[in-house]
Amino acid sequence: MQIKIQKILEEVTQLNVKNKQELEEFRVKFLGKKGYINDLFSEFKNVPSEKRKEIGQKINNLKIEVQKKINLLKDSFENNEEELEIKKDLTLPVDFENLGARHPLSIVYNEIVNIFSRIGFNVSEGPEIEDEWHNFSALNFPEEHPARDMQDTFFIENNPNDIKNQVALRTHTSCVQARVMESSKPPIRTISPGRVFRNEAISARAHCIFHQVEGLYIDKNVSFADLKQTLLYFAKEMFGESTKIRFRPSYFPFTEPSAELDVTCNICGGKGCNVCKYTGWLEILGCGMVDPNVLKNCGIDNEKYTGFAFGMGIERIAMLKYQINDLRLFFENDMGFLKQFESAI
Ligand code: DAH
Repeated sequence: MQIKIQKILEEVTQLNVKNKQELEEFRVKFLGKKGYINDLFSEFKNVPSEKRKEIGQKINNLKIEVQKKINLLKDSFENNEEELEIKKDLTLPVDFENLGARHPLSIVYNEIVNIFSRIGFNVSEGPEIEDEWHNFSALNFPEEHPARDMQDTFFIENNPNDIKNQVALRTHTSCVQARVMESSKPPIRTISPGRVFRNEAISARAHCIFHQVEGLYIDKNVSFADLKQTLLYFAKEMFGESTKIRFRPSYFPFTEPSAELDVTCNICGGKGCNVCKYTGWLEILGCGMVDPNVLKNCGIDNEKYTGFAFGMGIERIAMLKYQINDLRLFFENDMGFLKQFESAI
């Protein structure tokens, strides 16, 4: 019996299997009901008592060896063969396959910054926790404006009797234009990308946290024609050379006149489809000439200078560019979704 145990042990150490199926066959052959180990235990009944301890120990050791071998082979199948090679040779270059991909919002964010930096805009930033002055009053929001309402704004300190000293999460990046105007002299050409917050129910089209890019241009003799040309350049760079734009009159407290900008639908080329609701146009941003009151509030001579401003949602631009129909996808960290943008870096 000792010889038999020895032989089985040799077989175990020498054994090599090519795939999971062979490994399973090996397991059944050794550890199965009618396998070698069980056979040995049946024979064990006939072993004379003085040898029992020694032989019993040997069978147990053999069983442990078989189990170890199975685990070892199993591990090697779980890593693929290529990985095994790399583990053996530590001088091989690292595996680049698992490099992360850029988030679609970062891709679009960088693209917007690049497009405007090519025509002389710098990047400015402001705090996400903002005071009432910069988020509302400096921008010409009347005290009773509905955007100040609790339904829209996340207030951090909210005293209804003291409207001047409220602190909130900024509801737009327009407050950065107020800060830039207060702290620098014209000419000003800046874009301000960043996170903004609104007390909205989360849905496919809205989120309580999203991103905007604000644009501001202040100098002598800036006119609506400059605004038009700048945004036409942006639309063509972002959505393609054949893109056309149109302005629709609108209202914002901080611009006069105000407009909303549409671009020709980049999916149907303006012919009409379900994305543009068969209009051929997609709304992408709000804009206008900076209201002289805002210039004055921020310490800029509104007799000498004029300017334009615009603001756009980064999520909206990314959704149009990549044809994404649910805004929540940007925040879910689903690898299947994010991996699609690897090649867009
Ligand atoms: N702040 C506006 C918003 O959050 C966007 C906007 C519109 C910004 C017009 C501007 C502008 O600078 O001129 O909806």
